[in-house]
Amino acid sequence: VSDRARHACGVLWRPEFARVLDPVLASRQVDVVEVMFEDLLTFAEIPPSLAALKRRGATILVHGATLSLGGAERPDMRRVRGMARIADMLDAPLVSEHLAFVRSGGREAWHLLPLPRTRQAVDVLAENLDVVRSAVDRPVALENIAYLFEWPGNEMSEAEFIRTVIGETGSLLLLDVENVRVNACNYEFSAEDFLAAMPLDRLAYVHVAGGEVLRGVHRDTHSERVPPATLRLLELLSSRTEIPHLILERDQNLPAPQDLANELRDIDQALARGLAQRRWGSRAS
Ligand SMILES: [Fe+2]
Repeated sequence: VSDRARHACGVLWRPEFARVLDPVLASRQVDVVEVMFEDLLTFAEIPPSLAALKRRGATILVHGATLSLGGAERPDMRRVRGMARIADMLDAPLVSEHLAFVRSGGREAWHLLPLPRTRQAVDVLAENLDVVRSAVDRPVALENIAYLFEWPGNEMSEAEFIRTVIGETGSLLLLDVENVRVNACNYEFSAEDFLAAMPLDRLAYVHVAGGEVLRGVHRDTHSERVPPATLRLLELLSSRTEIPHLILERDQNLPAPQDLANELRDIDQALARGLAQRRWGSRAS
C-alpha cells in the first residue's frame, strides 16, 4: 500500500449526503469511511454506496452519538444491539462513541454533554462499556468532545481523565483534533500540550471538522471548512505518531463536490507534511 493510499482522508458518510459524497469518494483513493449507526438502523442491507466502497477494499468505521456512555443509567440495549447489527453488517473493525452523556432521568439532551471528571465517572463509564462490549463484539474507541461548560468538582484535567478512562477500560482513542482546538480556544489552554498528553499508543483514528464562532464561543458545528489552526494541529499530530485513519466530519452546509475534494486534498497534505517530519526525525536520530 502506498503512503498516499494509506493516508488518504475519508469522510463521515451519511445517506442524505450520498449525492455529494459518492462522486468525491469515487474519484479518490479513499480507504476508509465512517458511518453513524443511528443513520442506518432502518437499512436491512448495506446501502449501495457503501457496498461499492467495500468492494474497493475500504474500511467502514461505525460511530455512535446516542449510547450515552457516561450516563448514570445503563445504555439502552435496543440502541446497543442496533450498533452491533450495523457493525456486523459492515464488518467494521471497531465502533466508537463519545466521552459524554446525552440523557438522564428519561430526558434527552439532544446534545453531547460533558462528564464530571471524577473517579466515580470513570467507574460508571467502565460499567457501561462492559454492557456495550457484551453485545458489540469488537474494540470500542472513545472520542473527546467539545463542551460548552464544565461541572464543578472536577478531580482531573481533561487529559488526565481521558488517559485514565482509556487506560482502565482498555478502550481505544478517537481523537477529535477540531474539538481539541475548540476547547483550547474556549478554555484558554495549549492545544499542543493537550495533544502531547494524549495516550497516542491507543490511537484508533482521528476526526477533523470545522465549526463556527457564535457570540465569541467556538462551537463544533461540523458546518465549515477545517480551519488552518486545526490543519496545523493535525500536522503536528502526524509528525509525532502514525494516524491509522482520518475522517472529515461534515453534518451541515455541505460544499460542492469540487470544494470538498479540495478540502480533502488540503487535509491529506497536512497529514503528509507531518509524516515527512516524522520520517526525517527518525532518520536524523
Ligand atoms: Fe468528532
